[in-house]
Amino acid sequence: MTQGKLACVTGGTGFMASVLIKQLLEKGYAVNTTVRDPEKSEKLSHLKEMQNLGSLKVFRADLGVEGSFDEAVAGCDYVFSVAAPVNLNTDDPENELIKPAVQGILNVMKSCLKAKSVKRFVLTSSAASVSFRKSKENGLVLDEESWSDMEYLTTVKPPTWGYGVSKMLAEREASRFAQENNINLLTIVPALSIGPAPVARAAASIDMALSLLTGNEMMIHGLKIMQSISGFIAIGHIEDVCRAHIFVAENESASGRYICCSINTTLPELASFLSKRYPRYKVPTDFGELPEKAELSLSSEKLMKAGFEFKYKQLEEIYDETVKYAKATGLLPSK
Ligand SMILES: NC(=O)c1ccc[n+]([C@@H]2O[C@H](COP(=O)([O-])OP(=O)(O)OC[C@H]3O[C@@H](n4cnc5c(N)ncnc54)[C@H](OP(=O)(O)O)[C@@H]3O)[C@@H](O)[C@H]2O)c1
Repeated sequence: MTQGKLACVTGGTGFMASVLIKQLLEKGYAVNTTVRDPEKSEKLSHLKEMQNLGSLKVFRADLGVEGSFDEAVAGCDYVFSVAAPVNLNTDDPENELIKPAVQGILNVMKSCLKAKSVKRFVLTSSAASVSFRKSKENGLVLDEESWSDMEYLTTVKPPTWGYGVSKMLAEREASRFAQENNINLLTIVPALSIGPAPVARAAASIDMALSLLTGNEMMIHGLKIMQSISGFIAIGHIEDVCRAHIFVAENESASGRYICCSINTTLPELASFLSKRYPRYKVPTDFGELPEKAELSLSSEKLMKAGFEFKYKQLEEIYDETVKYAKATGLLPSK
């Protein structure tokens, strides 16, 4: 069924894109991917290796340049718009996150319009566009109708506010442009996504998820912020998240947003799990005021009702694979 189908995945140097490209090639798709700098060979080695799996072509493209994606999306059946600025700690969210994210998604979509071949456009959003809020109504289940609180983010400006705003505005602009131009848009909303990937450098999400083992204070702080701004820490296995991208692209009746995560937990719960599972690491236990139990949760029911099955539902399997990958990439000592 996928024979002869061409898919474009933007941001081939990235963690999520690398897994998605691998899955698409393994399913028999021909894949075009984009990178900002094809001369940076150390960032492209995994792409070179994956060329053994099937037809994988690498194109130069930058989100900030209109027309930049024309060549990469020409003739494509599906476009997976994964690339986005993800520098959560920037001092200039407006110019480094928000503007490039919004301009970037429009630039990719404009290239798709020119291509005329694109049947489905899949946008990678984030739980940051759903769950960042001041009021945390206990027990509230967040679903595809839920949005982060834009007013709270832009007036109070809590840590990482710019990332939440960038993902929300990118989704909204994409939706407006899709409606105006008759583009079939689907959006995947992943939470913290972890697990092994072809990229040799562990992504920020892995760094953050393993910070209780590595002792990386800045990343532990990031997890604290995540729980305090959302009321929970939601996690998914990267393999499931990428399978979900392909699932919605291929599923004729799919439409709109799809949240994708299999675990809702908290930092204290995570610490307790990790200290038992990996006793050789000294896992911190004091998280101040952070509640033990998740106040809210993120629901993937829409995705499951559409027929998607999560392969990874337990923290044990998700973390075991992530720890193994972290040892292979040098984030954790190999012995
Ligand atoms: N990993 C997670 O836990 C998670 C969770 C929810 C959502 N997401 C979303 O998933 C997507 C991928 O994230 P990731 O975790 O895979 O991060 P990543 O490894 O840092 O990948 C980000 C990718 O975006 C590219 N990029 C950034 N700015 C660009 C620009 N101006 N022009 C062209 N490319 C640009 C980067 O290229 P360079 O290599 O050139 O910088 C890189 O390939 C993002 O949309 C992110 O918001 C990730």
